[in-house]
Amino acid sequence: MQPIDSTKVPYKTLYNGTRIPVIGLGTFGSDNYDAETIARAVKTAITMGYRHIDCASVYGNEKKIGAVLQEVFAEGIVTREELWITSKVWNDKHKEVVESCKQSLADLQLDYLDLYLVHWPFPNFHAPKCDVTARQPNSVPYIHADYMKTWVQMESLVQSGLVKNIGTSNVTIPKMKLILRDCNIKPAVNEMEIHPHFQQPELYQFMKDNGVEVIGYSPIGSPGRPERDKTPEDTVDMEDPIIVAIAERLKMHPAVVCLKWAVQRGQITIPFSVKTDKMYNNLKGITEGPLTAEEMEAVSNIDKQCRLIKGQVFLWESAKGWEDLWDLDGLIAG
Ligand SMILES: NC(=O)c1ccc[n+]([C@@H]2O[C@H](COP(=O)([O-])OP(=O)(O)OC[C@H]3O[C@@H](n4cnc5c(N)ncnc54)[C@H](OP(=O)(O)O)[C@@H]3O)[C@@H](O)[C@H]2O)c1
Repeated sequence: MQPIDSTKVPYKTLYNGTRIPVIGLGTFGSDNYDAETIARAVKTAITMGYRHIDCASVYGNEKKIGAVLQEVFAEGIVTREELWITSKVWNDKHKEVVESCKQSLADLQLDYLDLYLVHWPFPNFHAPKCDVTARQPNSVPYIHADYMKTWVQMESLVQSGLVKNIGTSNVTIPKMKLILRDCNIKPAVNEMEIHPHFQQPELYQFMKDNGVEVIGYSPIGSPGRPERDKTPEDTVDMEDPIIVAIAERLKMHPAVVCLKWAVQRGQITIPFSVKTDKMYNNLKGITEGPLTAEEMEAVSNIDKQCRLIKGQVFLWESAKGWEDLWDLDGLIAG
């Protein structure tokens, strides 16, 4: 396997001038793969040219990833400064952000993070692998005053140098409007679900218009997502005839077409895989020729508004359904 020249991977520039590689490796796979397997994949990815890794404390593998990061530094494959490492504070630590960040740093064996995100705008805990109907009695809707208390702690991490950039995840337009109004340090990114069948054009444009970069998660349509996140209505991006036709023209897997579309549209993409050939094809695909304007237009027309990561397990007792998490009518539910 010939490593891919990482200088061929494009970057996005955040509002503060920091540059972030447009493709990173996702590391959420605990329903299908153990932490050691995912950590080994991180090492393989960095060795083949990935420079951006999307971590989170709740993924349960930061300790193992920390060990392989030490290996890649010791073996001279890459320096700390050449890597972009993201982590996220989990829902049950919204009041202990600094402690949570320090724990991630200790587990990852790093002295700073490039990006730290508030994983969800709800402080609602759910047990790992819990049933989709599970509702924790102390779950609450979005409470802006509480979110800002969390955000102030996020800002302190930048001030103390533990974190270079901070951002949000799973935030909607009405929530982001309030955050932008009340923050001292503006979120550098919002991490949100985006794939061809779920393009979120309004939210995407709102972020871009406000100088907040977009990281698109589940870019391939998350075929390995937990069972609790699957419903009979879900569609499959990789089987869409438009995606398949482009894949045939380019002689590449439909998954790679989804990633090429993502980057060409303008978002940062973080596909997950532990398979060397898939990781390789994903990175290589990003460094190769573009989709045509007609193909980009055709993909923009296959949006099915099919949200896959619905977040049911974060619902509070009085919530009507998962739609309440996403402010579909422009108002914050609850
Ligand atoms: N902020 C958030 O709330 C949030 C939520 C969800 C996800 N994320 C992040 O986003 C990352 C990616 O999302 P995701 O894991 O849900 O879904 P995804 O990246 O859309 O899909 C991953 C799946 O696609 C398969 N795959 C990858 N490359 C492929 C290729 N070239 N050909 C065929 N199949 C391919 C993988 O197969 P194999 O299993 O065979 O490798 C894996 O099962 C996560 O790992 C996590 O870091 C963040």
